[in-house]
Amino acid sequence: MEEMSLLKVERVSKSFGGNRVLKEVSFTLEKGEILGIVGPNGSGKTTLLNVLTGIVRQDSGSVLFMGRRIDRLKPHQRARMGMGRTFQITRLFSNLTVLENVIIPMHYGGGGADERKAEEILKMVGLFELKDRKAGNLSLAQRKRLELARAISVEPKVLLLDEVFAGLNPVSVREILELLKKIHSETGVAMVLVEHVLKALFQITKRVIVLSEGRIIYEGDPEGMAKSEEVVKAYLGERYEAPRGQRS
Ligand SMILES: Nc1ncnc2c1ncn2[C@@H]1O[C@H](COP(=O)(O)OP(=O)(O)O)[C@@H](O)[C@H]1O
Ligand SMILES: [Mg+2]
Repeated sequence: MEEMSLLKVERVSKSFGGNRVLKEVSFTLEKGEILGIVGPNGSGKTTLLNVLTGIVRQDSGSVLFMGRRIDRLKPHQRARMGMGRTFQITRLFSNLTVLENVIIPMHYGGGGADERKAEEILKMVGLFELKDRKAGNLSLAQRKRLELARAISVEPKVLLLDEVFAGLNPVSVREILELLKKIHSETGVAMVLVEHVLKALFQITKRVIVLSEGRIIYEGDPEGMAKSEEVVKAYLGERYEAPRGQRS
């Protein structure tokens, strides 16, 4: 039997008013796979994640998760099926402790709140020592770690990450990159990374999709992406630095 894709997006379109933000977007994600989604600001990346998680309803097209159509399910139903996400702007409870911030999604995720397990997850993301601190007092890099802890606390099958490296200094980018690799190897969770920090992205995935004005203009490996005239014109321009080893 042919194994089904974990996620299958078929010809998804979405307009806000007259603004066509997604135009027949189709792609698949396999179990345990890591996929990068890049593209200029306003190209529809966050909207695509919102369609996948149910925050935004598409106008047409379908989304299948583990072979089941999910595009009419509510966000919390999709979360319970195994869709986890982090946000471009972190959404933590700043007056609650680090530990409480992990316990809450576990409670609502249906698996029940388990303090021991929450502590294990905090160890994994390197925040255990800070478990009693208020989330509002964390640095940006620590908040990103906590967002990841919250997302994996419900044992998702896929993690959707919106610009997890944004705003971080190079040292923190490397640390979060290592953390993502560790989460991936220890849990096998599939990941979709919407990302601008290409250098870091290309160290964790060999498959990228480029969105431009709501349309997929490239799908493939980073090397091919850099060679695509359309991608260079729409996105990379002159600020692009070729992946290591690719520079002539
Ligand atoms: N809820 C919304 N209502 C109206 N317009 C929106 C909404 N969300 C996004 N848009 C518009 O959709 C376009 C794509 O936005 P977005 O998906 O955030 O792009 P990206 O994440 O690639 O920067 C933008 O023009 C944005 O203004
Ligand atoms: Mg965005």
